[in-house]
Amino acid sequence: MEIVFLEEVDSTNDEAKRLPFKHGLCVVARKQRAGRGRRGRSWLSEAGKGLYASFILERLNLPIVSVAFGVAVLKTLKELDNRFYLKWPNDVYIEGKKVSGILVERTKDRLVVGVGINLSYGKEELQNLEKPATSLSAEGIEFNYNTLLKSLHKNVLELHARLKEGSFNPREFERECPLIGREVVVVRENERFRARALGIDTDGALVVERDGQITRLFSGEVSIRGV
Ligand code: BTN
Repeated sequence: MEIVFLEEVDSTNDEAKRLPFKHGLCVVARKQRAGRGRRGRSWLSEAGKGLYASFILERLNLPIVSVAFGVAVLKTLKELDNRFYLKWPNDVYIEGKKVSGILVERTKDRLVVGVGINLSYGKEELQNLEKPATSLSAEGIEFNYNTLLKSLHKNVLELHARLKEGSFNPREFERECPLIGREVVVVRENERFRARALGIDTDGALVVERDGQITRLFSGEVSIRGV
C-alpha cells in the first residue's frame, strides 16, 4: 500500500487530484493550510493534531459511494473503541460529538476519498466549531498514528473493491446509525421539519417519513439531527 507523506499541503484532496492517477495511493499531510469539509465548510487541520488523508481510487459512478466510505472509517475507529457510530451521510460520532468526516470528490478519471480524524485536539480547541466535536485524545482513546493509517488504508481499499463488485449493502450503514428508526429534525435550505428516519436506500439517500409521506433526502441539500 503506497503512501505519500507531506509535511504541509493546501488540502490532501486537492493534492490527490493533481497527482498522476494511481489506484490505492494515499496522500497524507501533517498539516493542511486549506482543509475542506462538505458543503463548502473548512476542516480544522493543525499540524499533527489530526489525521488528514486522501485516497486516489478508480472512479465509480454509484451515488452510494459517499455514504459507503463512512462504514470503512467506522470500522477503523471501532478497532480502537466500540462506542463509535455513524451519522448520515458519513460522519463518525462518539457520545454525541463528531470525531471524523469524509469528503468524497470525483474528477474525470478518479474518485478522491478524503478522511479527516480528530486525533489530539484539546476540548477547548474544538469548542467554536459548527457542530459539537471531539478528538480521540479528548475521549481518552489511545492510538498509534501509523497503525490507524494502515488500517484505514486497508478498509478503504476493501470497501472500494466491494462497491465495485456490488457487494456493499446499505444495511451495513443502517446497523451502525442510531438515528435510523428514530425521529429526526431535517434542515433544508428553506425549511425545517420533523420526520422519522426509515433507512438508507441503494442510492445512499436517507429515506424519511413525514405525515405518512415518504421522502428521499440527498446529502448535498440537508442536515439532520436527533430530537
Ligand atoms: C466533513 O465532515 O465535512 C468532511 C471533512 C473531510 C476532511 C478531510 S481531511 C483530509 C481531506 N482533505 C480535505 O481538505 N478534506 C478531507
